Amino acid sequence: MAGIRLPPEDSDVSTARPPTNTDLISDDDRSVAADSWSIKSDYGSTLDDDQRHADASEVLSAVPYRSASDYSSDKEEPDAEPVSSMLGFQSYWDAAYADELANFREHGHTGEVWFGADVMEMVASWTKGLCNDIAQGQMLNHVADDTSVTPEQGEKDLTDWSVLDVGTGNGLLLQEFAKQGFTDLTGTDYSEGAIDLARSLADRDGFSGLKFLVDDVLDTKIERKFQLVIDKGTLDAIGLHPDGPIKRIMYWDSISKLVATGGLLVITSCNSTKDELVQEVDNYNHRRVAASQESETSVSQEAGSNSPLFSYLDHIRSYPTFMFGGSVGSRVATVAFVRK
Ligand SMILES: C[S@@+](CC[C@H](N)C(=O)[O-])C[C@H]1O[C@@H](n2cnc3c(N)ncnc32)[C@H](O)[C@@H]1O
Repeated sequence: MAGIRLPPEDSDVSTARPPTNTDLISDDDRSVAADSWSIKSDYGSTLDDDQRHADASEVLSAVPYRSASDYSSDKEEPDAEPVSSMLGFQSYWDAAYADELANFREHGHTGEVWFGADVMEMVASWTKGLCNDIAQGQMLNHVADDTSVTPEQGEKDLTDWSVLDVGTGNGLLLQEFAKQGFTDLTGTDYSEGAIDLARSLADRDGFSGLKFLVDDVLDTKIERKFQLVIDKGTLDAIGLHPDGPIKRIMYWDSISKLVATGGLLVITSCNSTKDELVQEVDNYNHRRVAASQESETSVSQEAGSNSPLFSYLDHIRSYPTFMFGGSVGSRVATVAFVRK
């Protein structure tokens, strides 16, 4: 399983500190810093990739998440500096996927499976169960008479779920959803290299029906809505930009346009706990309601903008634990929200 790995203790890289936002000033400086951070290892290219992913996994897991509201509030001083890293920059991902694509072409390597294959499989099978429960009327009161729908019919309904994976990376999560019986599957990522890799892997693995396109979830050009939107590690990465708190707010605004009414959003994070994600959604709902009350513009005229848009539905309760920083624990959380 390619899970969260620790850097070698005696490696130069283990002492390399991802620059914080106070280190970085202009976007150009940020790109240069991103590149230099990513080439600090003395290893050859494949190990260099492994090392960078180990560092990246460590950064993603280690940074404490603080809700966006902490930064938009009128507190005079925040409790701590917001944590940022190169993983918040597109230049980091472009370089990472260029290497992964080269490794795939030269050696057939699949590349990094973020949070490990077990988590990926669990997210797909658990989400399938959730969709089946909904189709069978066991949740959300979608169907009044539970007994009128057989499990087989519920399974068949999976083909009706349009699925969007934002920040799909190598697209392996979508392959897992395809194995579970979903058929309408689209993956997006702002890194062209990720999309090339995802397409190459899907073709190699016999999943040529998967659709992939380049799209920035914070500035999405997609006009279609999906019944199921999934995110594994993307909100985490977005939050690591020096402007992470603002970008997380942008994320919710954008994602709310991508999830269909009555649809699901399933987020997997190693940077936020289930409670923190629920809190972040509450903050988003409150901001939205406050905006509708304060403004006479389009927001206030939007139907139903006075009530919460996303509500917590369920979360995965049985994750395996990882060894991290000398202690055992798991900060991986998968939480499902339903959009009103
Ligand atoms: C930790 S990786 C996870 C990749 C993939 N979801 C997985 O689980 O393997 C984060 C991904 O989010 C993508 N990403 C980050 N910010 C993004 C944005 N604003 N729009 C689209 N993709 C983004 C990165 O390119 C990267 O592929």
